[in-house]
Amino acid sequence: MAELHVLNHPLIHHKLAVLRDKNTGVKEFREVVGEISTLMCYEATRDIPTVDVEVETPVAMARVKTLGDTKVTIVPILRAGLGMVDPMIKLLPSARVGHIGLFRDPDTHEPIKYYCKMPDDISQSRVFIVDPMLATGGSASAAITFIKEYGCKSITLVNIIAAPEGIAVIRRDHPDVNIYAAAVDERLNENAYIVPGLGDAGDRIFGTK
Ligand code: PRP
Ligand code: URA
Repeated sequence: MAELHVLNHPLIHHKLAVLRDKNTGVKEFREVVGEISTLMCYEATRDIPTVDVEVETPVAMARVKTLGDTKVTIVPILRAGLGMVDPMIKLLPSARVGHIGLFRDPDTHEPIKYYCKMPDDISQSRVFIVDPMLATGGSASAAITFIKEYGCKSITLVNIIAAPEGIAVIRRDHPDVNIYAAAVDERLNENAYIVPGLGDAGDRIFGTK
């Protein structure tokens, strides 16, 4: 069964309050999505394998841990996932980035794929799929299915706000994929928006409404 990790931390709570506020403007919204993404990256990468090496400090030799050549790929689900990429690359500067373009059909809420470009060697990579919102779970489940077709074995889903319905779909479709969420909200409304949520993440990040 997929593990669900909900980040319970005062910094996350405070920043989520800013995102949820409908009066938060595009500049601040984008910045705070970035700050939360950095904090989530720190948690979601906790089990990345490390390699022991020796370095010489000014005082003595020290046995230290590094990331070695662990391959990491970050895959944002376009558009809104783009807002989470740069902050994650700051912590993982060697990470590759793959892109999946999906949008929800406004009537059926089913995901429609319009773009995909993955790094060549993604099958050997630890993959972190990032998207601020996990609502029905349709987009994330389709993205995971797609990435598995490249032979990827280690996939983690990172969402800022998740709905119980979306979590259930990922657990049903992809029990091997762990989920990191900054918050789990109450439910979806009749338009498949997360309640209370933060509205349309893509529109708020890119200022399109
Ligand atoms: C939003 C969000 C997720 C998806 C979640 O994207 O960023 O990708 O909806 O909904 P689901 O779990 O029900 O699939 P949207 O389709 O609005 O596209 P956008 O990012 O281009 O605005
Ligand atoms: N997509 C969003 O951006 N927000 C929601 O609440 C649901 C899907």
